[in-house]
Amino acid sequence: MSLEQDKAFFKNFAFVLIGLSVLMVTFMVLGAMFGGGDDISASNTAAVMENTAPVAKVQIEGDEPEAPAMEESTEMAAAEEEHVGKTAYGSICVACHGSGIPGIPQLGDAAAWAPRIAQGNDILYEHAINGYTGSSGMPMPAKGGNPSLSDDDVKAAVDYIVSSSQ
Ligand code: HEC
Repeated sequence: MSLEQDKAFFKNFAFVLIGLSVLMVTFMVLGAMFGGGDDISASNTAAVMENTAPVAKVQIEGDEPEAPAMEESTEMAAAEEEHVGKTAYGSICVACHGSGIPGIPQLGDAAAWAPRIAQGNDILYEHAINGYTGSSGMPMPAKGGNPSLSDDDVKAAVDYIVSSSQ
């Protein structure tokens, strides 16, 4: 090998070494950024336990789990129902029942709602779910015109309107 060839070899080899070092540093940085180190943290373990928990447990007679206090769960269910009702109401019903359009019974207008409430919940639910046109001459569209609401959503919205209009 001539001296020229040696020089060329060292030059090329130096480039390869520099290239490899740059790659190594790049991967180390990327690894530190995205690797996240030891992933078995407490919160992670808790999440895994929760996601892999059995859907049901065998309950042996005489080994009753403590039932949550009755009052508390009823209260929570009521709050949940009110939330669903308010959300459903806000999604569509408010467009008419919160609009101030004359002839449409407005949320909070006790006088307009009293005779309707007097019909009983079943009729109110039926009219709200299937639609109807009554004394106002204006149509109450089925589910307020939003078929993506479930019957239960509409009932909850009726309950919300009724409880806000007494
Ligand atoms: C396009 C306007 C409009 C929308 C939207 C609307 N309503 Fe109505 N609603 C009416 C009108 C008009 C009446 C009164 C009809 C009548 O009595 O002639 C009415 C009446 C009612 C009544 C009284 C029924 C009765 O028997 O007196 C209930 C309950 C009711 N709406 C619930 C809802 C609920 C719940 C929603 C949302 C899911 C909703 N409405 C959305 C127009 C609307």
